[in-house]
Amino acid sequence: AVVCGSKNARLASRSGPIMAEEAKKLAAYAAVDNHVQNNQAVGVGSGSTIVYAVDRLAERVRQEKLNIVCVPTSFQARQLILQHGLSLSDLDRHPELDVAIDGADEVDARLTLIKGGGGCLTQEKIVAGCAKHFVVIADYRKDSKALGQQWKKGVPIEVIPMAHVPVGRTIVRRFGGVANLRMAVSKAGPVVTDNCNFILDWKFDGARDWTEVNTAIKMIPGVVETGLFVGMADRAYFGMEDGSVQVR
Ligand code: 5RP
Repeated sequence: AVVCGSKNARLASRSGPIMAEEAKKLAAYAAVDNHVQNNQAVGVGSGSTIVYAVDRLAERVRQEKLNIVCVPTSFQARQLILQHGLSLSDLDRHPELDVAIDGADEVDARLTLIKGGGGCLTQEKIVAGCAKHFVVIADYRKDSKALGQQWKKGVPIEVIPMAHVPVGRTIVRRFGGVANLRMAVSKAGPVVTDNCNFILDWKFDGARDWTEVNTAIKMIPGVVETGLFVGMADRAYFGMEDGSVQVR
């Protein structure tokens, strides 16, 4: 692991550990500065950490007159790109991206990810799959030795609405655990994704072969995509409590 951000490390030692929000910003700024260059097509992830990455992208476009186009992974990402005055594109015009930057809910030692806490996993996986480099940004709470140790809400799985009951039952029968239909905060109904589907959150026990589990779940009729990102991430930037940034 490489550690950078010594100026912030000094700041942190003066004022105690930094908060997760500041750690997100450190990771996002470092990733944008190290991986985005002029004339690139950039995939823009979803969530709260990506907000800092888009801030930094916009700052660099203004200051360095960078010429970049951004491809969003969600309605939220699209809004962020537009609100920051960045150039919006899509996979029709840019099917090959130079880099995609996105947050994660958990990152293990092999850069296997759980994503989809915000329900955007399908478009996030498509965009990451189109990128030459996929870079993850996260605060220290997402860093994990094994999936399930940090993120307790389970693996999000996007499903066709009519199939959510049989898909949930099949997953539990084959892999154990519990599969809950994700409900809106108001409890008035299920969360509906940008693709008009539902999300099952599958809470599992213990370590797994994630390649095998991901492939098996994807084969169940009605499953659109899983929030398991196996062998996709090239780098992960973690903003740490001491104000440094760890790169894996
Ligand atoms: C959304 C995602 C997010 O990238 C993930 O939930 C991390 O979000 P945050 O940066 O808010 O912690 O996968 O579907």
